[in-house]
Amino acid sequence: MKGIVIYKSKYGSTKKYAEWISERTGFDCVESGKINAKQLADYDTVIFGGGIYASGIAGISFLKKNIVALNGKKVIAFCCGASPDDETFLNEIRNMNLKDELASVPLYYCRGACSLNGMSFKDKTLCKMLRKSLEKKDPKDYAVWEAALVEAVDIGKDWTDKKYIDPIVEACKK
Ligand SMILES: Cc1cc2nc3c(=O)[nH]c(=O)nc-3n(C[C@H](O)[C@H](O)[C@H](O)COP(=O)(O)O)c2cc1C
Repeated sequence: MKGIVIYKSKYGSTKKYAEWISERTGFDCVESGKINAKQLADYDTVIFGGGIYASGIAGISFLKKNIVALNGKKVIAFCCGASPDDETFLNEIRNMNLKDELASVPLYYCRGACSLNGMSFKDKTLCKMLRKSLEKKDPKDYAVWEAALVEAVDIGKDWTDKKYIDPIVEACKK
């Protein structure tokens, strides 16, 4: 079985997971944008991973754009965010990002990292604005990802862990 891991990563967490999955499965690993529909023909399994930004999975349009080329292949998706691994959160992300013809694609979660250090000016500003807006809210009413983002903005956090790839590697074997 030949497989490939395709990723879209802004600050490196999704890339790290894509490389870990590639190491464990022996699959090729490439950044989205560096592979076209024709090249997908070589693979039986296609794993796509993207970082989460304002509840959207970065680069997820890759799957939609290549829906014809992906027909008949095993397709698996994963996303990487600051939120803890939470079922309600992941369902929301799934409902927002994997609709219609992508509704049957399984979605896994790998917790990423977040820190203002090294962030683009735009992202830093967005995070600070969000942090400020959350000051008005009682912390006990925070959504799981809001609490995580506050923590990350205040002190910087890296939650990446190889344990998150286990179910993805297992799903490749089925
Ligand atoms: C502007 C901005 C918005 C974000 N929005 C979310 C979000 O909605 N949910 C979440 O869990 N994490 C969110 N994050 C955290 C990222 O998903 C996290 O840093 C992830 O590790 C990024 O993956 P990447 O480095 O592969 O792009 C956000 C981060 C930034 C900078």
